[in-house]
Amino acid sequence: MRSFWNARARENALYFINNSLDYRGTDREAFWRSGETELETILAALDSTIAATATVLEVGCGIGRMTRALAERGATVIGLDISTEMLRMAAEQNPQLDNVEWLLGDGSSLAAVEDETIDVVFSHVVLQHIPDPVIVLAYITEMGRVLRTGGWALVGVSTDPAVHDRSIRLRDRARAVLRRGPSGQDDPAWRGCAVSIEAVEEAARRGGMVVARSIGEGSQFCFARCEKTVTMVSA
Ligand SMILES: C[S@@+](CC[C@H](N)C(=O)[O-])C[C@H]1O[C@@H](n2cnc3c(N)ncnc32)[C@H](O)[C@@H]1O
Repeated sequence: MRSFWNARARENALYFINNSLDYRGTDREAFWRSGETELETILAALDSTIAATATVLEVGCGIGRMTRALAERGATVIGLDISTEMLRMAAEQNPQLDNVEWLLGDGSSLAAVEDETIDVVFSHVVLQHIPDPVIVLAYITEMGRVLRTGGWALVGVSTDPAVHDRSIRLRDRARAVLRRGPSGQDDPAWRGCAVSIEAVEEAARRGGMVVARSIGEGSQFCFARCEKTVTMVSA
């Protein structure tokens, strides 16, 4: 996963983070604006706000699109990512964010983060790309471990298995070869996987959390608000 995302960061980080943008003429302003818009939409849909005193962990921060918006709300933000190249660009593109720490993750856990030190965990368009549902669910349980009691996580997952099996059109393959379109569309680290909402609930429970609310069930963009109610029960 690390080498895949490092390669995509070098190819066109903005597009691979927000693939609703044009691959060949990526609009930087629209890219950064989309972080604020998407955060606002997700928080509103789940009736959630981030306290100005909060320590926030973003899992899969990319080059800091959502991190920028989170840093305007919380006191401190930790942006964690598997990709050294994404993190290098994040630091380069966001020198003004003096309340953000960029952290390299191992790709399957939050081992770099201490138990019960975080108030809010946020993860958007990251877990959808992880090819192994065991890792997706382990991440959710880990989120519970790092949250303080009373804290919460907004977890984006795919709950639509069909989108992960779609074949790539010949025309798109040809474009990638000619460097006129995105590469890596067939790679498991891009295709990712789906999980059921019941599996999310179970993973959350193992981390001492309950799924208090969810939206988009059955779609590729399902968000669950998981609330940490008790100290984590070890597996
Ligand atoms: C589509 S981008 C989204 C970035 C950011 N969340 C946003 O919305 O702007 C996916 C990000 O997840 C990171 N990522 C992929 N697999 C990961 C993993 N197993 N652990 C941590 N980060 C991962 C990638 O390096 C990439 O930066």
